[in-house]
Amino acid sequence: MIFKSVPHPSPTPPARVKALVAAPKFGSVFTDHMVVIRWNEEQGWHDAQVCARGPFSLDPACAVFHYAQEVFEGMKAYRCDDGRIALFRPFENARRFALSAQRLAMPQLDPAMFVAAVEMLVRADVAWVPDGKGSLYLRPFMFASEAFLGMRAAREYIFCVIASPAGAYFGSERDTISLWVSKEYSRAAKGGTGAAKCGGNYAGTLLALRQAAAEGCDQAIFLDAAEQKWVEELGGMNVFFVMRDGSMITPPLGAILAGVTRDAIISLARDGGMSVEERRYSFEQWCCDAEDGHLTEVFACGTAAVIAGVGKVRFCGGGFTIGSGRSGAVTAALTSRLEAIQRGREPDRLGWFHEVTSQ
Ligand code: COI
Repeated sequence: MIFKSVPHPSPTPPARVKALVAAPKFGSVFTDHMVVIRWNEEQGWHDAQVCARGPFSLDPACAVFHYAQEVFEGMKAYRCDDGRIALFRPFENARRFALSAQRLAMPQLDPAMFVAAVEMLVRADVAWVPDGKGSLYLRPFMFASEAFLGMRAAREYIFCVIASPAGAYFGSERDTISLWVSKEYSRAAKGGTGAAKCGGNYAGTLLALRQAAAEGCDQAIFLDAAEQKWVEELGGMNVFFVMRDGSMITPPLGAILAGVTRDAIISLARDGGMSVEERRYSFEQWCCDAEDGHLTEVFACGTAAVIAGVGKVRFCGGGFTIGSGRSGAVTAALTSRLEAIQRGREPDRLGWFHEVTSQ
């Protein structure tokens, strides 16, 4: 597919871009351009373009407003020390996007077209990729744009990619985050959409997140819907448990999001000789392991936050500290290894480094 290029008529001046990318609050500053591709039953994917970022004009009867047919991805472009700009495993995001779309009865975008669209935007807004510890957060998404209120899959969709320069998700001063265990609300049930990256999954966690904030915690973590027993994931991040013997446990795929960062951590840990089990881990066991010191570290991971050590856990009626409450050695080692690969500082033995520009 050919992308029509419609350059921004008055792009942000370079000095202003430099100031804006310096220390942005996550998701609050946006680049000049966006990519848009449309789909309908007659033409399939068509009208691909890179154009000035701006509002859509949508009919109030658009299906997405009523039945939440929407999926999205999160990925990052990094500026390497030698000036190259790279993505991290973009085809993993592309494949997951296609699976999310399938689950929501939406058309699938070919992974090569998905990656081409993301690359187009990175090239158009290359000046917005921060250096140092920052990165350009990319948000591909697709929604049902047909104006129709009947209950069926829509027949028109818009795929779009926007970008936002990003610093540390939780702020650069934070060593660890705290978690609130949500026992009142669940995130996903068997047969539901838990494994899809759709907006509705995230909307369903916001009340628990508000409760977490009221309890003085940064994030909420969810248990399984059937038994309220097994730890699943945070609203927008996967979770790992590090044991005193150096082994790790992470909840199995099924109802949780198959995180690209999660998958990378499993590979890196195993590559470093650690044992990683993808298996169910109960909240009760978590409490016991934290209490008797068997559990030494816990961390959450995702594209936006990368890896965030967990210091404290609270729940209705109690709470506990993980290890010393500070970020641990395993968390630090995995973070630095992952970042070295993402930023091209380490040879790419695994084929994860995807160069977009060599400048
Ligand atoms: C990501 O990590 O990219 C996500 O989509 C999570 C979101 C809560 C920022």
